Amino acid sequence: MESPFKGDVLKGKVALLTGGASGIGFEISRQFGIHGASIAVMGRRKSVLDSAVSSLQSLGIPAVGFDGDVRKQEDAKRVVESTVKHFGKLDILVNAAAGNFLVSPEDLSPNGFRTVLDIDSVGTFTMCHEALKYLKKGGPGRRSSSGGLILNISATLHYTASWYQIHVSAAKAAVDSLTRSLALEWGTDYDIRVNGIAPGPISDTTGMSKLSPEEISSKAREYMPLYKLGEKWDIAMSALYLASDAGKYVNGTTIVVDGGLWLSRPRHIPKDAVKQLSRTVENRSRATPVGLPTSKL
Ligand code: HXC
Repeated sequence: MESPFKGDVLKGKVALLTGGASGIGFEISRQFGIHGASIAVMGRRKSVLDSAVSSLQSLGIPAVGFDGDVRKQEDAKRVVESTVKHFGKLDILVNAAAGNFLVSPEDLSPNGFRTVLDIDSVGTFTMCHEALKYLKKGGPGRRSSSGGLILNISATLHYTASWYQIHVSAAKAAVDSLTRSLALEWGTDYDIRVNGIAPGPISDTTGMSKLSPEEISSKAREYMPLYKLGEKWDIAMSALYLASDAGKYVNGTTIVVDGGLWLSRPRHIPKDAVKQLSRTVENRSRATPVGLPTSKL
């Protein structure tokens, strides 16, 4: 699909994306590059990095790949520094690296729980921490009078509760909290904007194939407000909005891009029962004077 944004909205910007060589992360890399940014991608798999970089370069996008694991502080530091060495500065950090698998709480070992928090939450903080000195207003290589941008890829799982996702829900809740805290502190002190995007089910991603095999996802479509899966493009366009000047007053928010799905998880109380319950409560409160102690109800 054609982008509604002008081709130069990110002209001259340098972006580093963890998990930027595959899935949603790669589509953000591609769209940022198409709209004028130079792109550094970080990931654990060399072959995936190499193919992402050549694909970006074939579009004329200045691109480089650095292998590294966001769980290792020395990798985070090295990759941030290498990006600045390669392109001269850093304007945008996108934290898209994540880990996931379906497992019930009783089958999840504490180490499995910790692994996902290490990648998603601690990894996001570590990258932000290492990138701070380059992103802050007046940081090395920054000619612009403003600070940079951090974009954290989150989820909607923790807005309610999600089966077999206790680890990821906890991890993404922490990511959203980081987004708000850093937006407050680094927005005030360093003019850095920190925002998030919470994607819903996005077709053709590892997340979808791991979390929602085809037979489940076609069933899920029955209760999806827009009756379809999202596309990686949808997430990349929201990222472009936040990264461009269009988003210059947006700070500390996580944009939900899910077609309204999180509002419509399957009901555990059938609709008729809710209706009945609601009428009973209404009738009871009409018959009961206001202020009566609830023990009398
Ligand atoms: C139960 C599991 C498990 C599983 C791993 N573990 N897989 N437990 N069920 N399926 C446990 C292990 O037993 C181990 O604990 C601990 O987790 C660490 O496992 P390792 O395999 O050693 O970890 P590692 O090699 O570092 O791999 C990390 C990983 C892996 C998260 C497990 O899947 C990964 O690298 N994923 C990255 C790619 C990815 O998942 N992308 C999807 C993102 S989708 P013990 O106790 O045995 O030592 C996404 C969508 C979010 O983020 C929301 C969507 C709505």
